[in-house]
Amino acid sequence: MYHDPVMLQECIHWLDVKAGGCYMDATFGGGGHSRAILNHLGDGRLIAFDRDTDAHANRPEDDRLTLVKADFRYADRYLRLSRFPALDGILADLGISSHQIDEASRGFSTRFEGPLDMRMDREGGADASRLIEERSEAELSLAFYELGDIANNRKLAAHIKSALPITSTAALVEAIRQCIPPREENKYLARVFQTLRILVNDELGALNELMEKAASMLKPGGRMVVMSYHSAEDRIVKNHFRSGNAAGKENKDFFGNNLSPWKLLFSKPVLSGAEELERNPRSRSAKLRAAERL
Ligand SMILES: C[S@@+](CC[C@H](N)C(=O)[O-])C[C@H]1O[C@@H](n2cnc3c(N)ncnc32)[C@H](O)[C@@H]1O
Repeated sequence: MYHDPVMLQECIHWLDVKAGGCYMDATFGGGGHSRAILNHLGDGRLIAFDRDTDAHANRPEDDRLTLVKADFRYADRYLRLSRFPALDGILADLGISSHQIDEASRGFSTRFEGPLDMRMDREGGADASRLIEERSEAELSLAFYELGDIANNRKLAAHIKSALPITSTAALVEAIRQCIPPREENKYLARVFQTLRILVNDELGALNELMEKAASMLKPGGRMVVMSYHSAEDRIVKNHFRSGNAAGKENKDFFGNNLSPWKLLFSKPVLSGAEELERNPRSRSAKLRAAERL
């Protein structure tokens, strides 16, 4: 299977998909969430985005769906260009799909030997091999600390820098072998790879731009549902929904009213249920947040 969609029922429920409405799936992937939206959509419309060409092979034959190969940070431009009406709902299921992880040639997985690529969009931008050359040792070290929660971040960055050029996943693992704490190989490597992936695809920058523009793409009363898999992503979503900006700084008017364009639908994130946690390991770190545009 390309990708087992996480919290499918919960997403449809909180998006409150209505027949005749207009929706956006910012992260099409295997199209699992898009298909479920289409099933509830009647004669409505769905615009979906994915910057990975592989995802586009999953496009269902459906006239109600417009699928765009682009970064979702530019979604507002595509809506304007295609004269798409204001939206009733936006869904974003962040990160990468099981297909991307399981495809050795993409270089996302610690389990397979492959080129050190990690780009979601292989048509442009620096891959992970180039990124570790271009970023300074201090920048890499800080990212491993902040995004990977890696305690020996300085040693790790130094080992990477001294082994350049590194062009394959196996060569990266070899270069950092001495940094891996005993009995923590899988966890440690997963954090190293995830940090590099987040940097390569500027995932936090893209999410922040989407969150900044989201309210302006929605109708009043329109909803946004976001599923994140990393604490830094979740913080951005939480802060935007609470206060209308990434820093979580509350802006108030003269009368002390919060100027955030969002009304939270609930305050604690929704997590996957026991059955899904058992069935789909990817769902373990998922956090779902939802808000309504005021
Ligand atoms: C977790 S998967 C989505 C799975 C999908 N919900 C499903 O049911 O199959 C995330 C997808 O979003 C895409 N993606 C991630 N960040 C993106 C961005 N900034 N712009 C466009 N697509 C993005 C990835 O390429 C990947 O295919």
